[in-house]
Amino acid sequence: MEILSRNRRLRKSEAIRQMVRETSISTSDLIAPLFLMEGFIGKEEIASMPGIFRHDLKSLIHEVRDLSKLGIKCVSLFPVIDENKKDPRAFESINPEGIYQLAIREIKHSYPEMVVMTDVALDPYSSDGHDGLVDKKTGKILNDETIEILCQMAVLQASAGSDIIGPSDMMDNRIGAIRKALEADGYTDTLIMSYTAKYASNFYGPFRDALHSAPKQGDKKTYQMDYGNSIEALRELKHDELEGADIVMVKPGLAYLDIIKMYSEHTSLPIAAYNVSGEYAMIKAAAQKGWIDEKKIVHEILTAFKRAGASMILTYFAKDMAQLLNE
Ligand code: PBG
Repeated sequence: MEILSRNRRLRKSEAIRQMVRETSISTSDLIAPLFLMEGFIGKEEIASMPGIFRHDLKSLIHEVRDLSKLGIKCVSLFPVIDENKKDPRAFESINPEGIYQLAIREIKHSYPEMVVMTDVALDPYSSDGHDGLVDKKTGKILNDETIEILCQMAVLQASAGSDIIGPSDMMDNRIGAIRKALEADGYTDTLIMSYTAKYASNFYGPFRDALHSAPKQGDKKTYQMDYGNSIEALRELKHDELEGADIVMVKPGLAYLDIIKMYSEHTSLPIAAYNVSGEYAMIKAAAQKGWIDEKKIVHEILTAFKRAGASMILTYFAKDMAQLLNE
C-alpha cells in the first residue's frame, strides 16, 4: 500500500507547528505562591529556593503589583510565623489581627482585581509542625477537632477578603465542613480549591525550610496520601466533589502527571496542579550548574501540566514564566 500521510508535514515550520499546537500556556494559567513574614523589614531570599523570598507586608504588596503588571491573576499566600507565636493549638491561625489577615486585606484593598488564595492548615502556626492537632498521649493527628479550627480559619480569611480558600491539610471531610461554615456566614461566593490528591511527598522540603514548619515528631503519612496509590485519589476526588469543592488540586505535580490525567477523565471540575518547592529547587540547582536551559525547561514542564489536564498551575516559576511570555 502506498503511504500518503506524513506526520512531519505538520512540523515543517514554526508557524505550522503553532497552528496545530494542542496545548499552550498563558499568564492566566499561573498562580504565584508568596511567603509573608512578620518581625523584619524588606525581603529575604530562601536558601533552598533561589529567587523566592520571604516578604514583609510592604515588600509583599510590591511583589503583587509586579505580578499584576505581568498579567498574573492569582496569588496564593503562605505565612511565616514567629516561633514564639506557635503553640500546640495553633492559636495564631485564628487571630483576626494576625499578619495573614492583614495581608489579605491589604492586597484586596490595593489590588482588588488580584485573586487572593489563602491556605487553611495548622502547620505554619503549630509548635508540632503538623497540619492538624496532635494528641499529646498517642501522637495521633486529631481529625474532627482539627476541622473546627480549619472552619474558623476559613471564615476569618473569607471575611478578610480571600477569594479562594485552599485547605492543604488532608483531614477527612474538611471540605464539606468548611463549605457549610462559609455558607452559614454568608460567604457563598468564596471558592474552595481543595488539595484533593495531596501526597506524603519528599518534594516539600524547601517549603518547610521557608516556613520553618517541618514536623517536630513523625511524618505526615497518616493524613497525606501514599505515593504508591492512584485509585485512592479517585476516592478523594469523589468526596471533594460531593462536599462542594470548586477546584481540585493534585500535589506534587511533576511526578504525578498520571493523577492529573486521570482526574481530567473523571471530573468536570477545573483541575489545579501544584509544581512544588522541591521541583523548583531541583531545576534551579541544575540550571545554576549550567547543566540545563532553565527557561526552556520551565516552559516545557508547565506546558506538560496543561497537556495532562490541569487548567491552572501553582508554581514558583510564575513570575519568570510571565516575564518570558511577555517578551
Ligand atoms: C502544608 C503545606 C505544604 C506545602 C503546602 N502546604 C507542605 C507539607 O504538607 O508539609 C508544600 C508546598 C511546596 O512544597 O511547595 N499544609
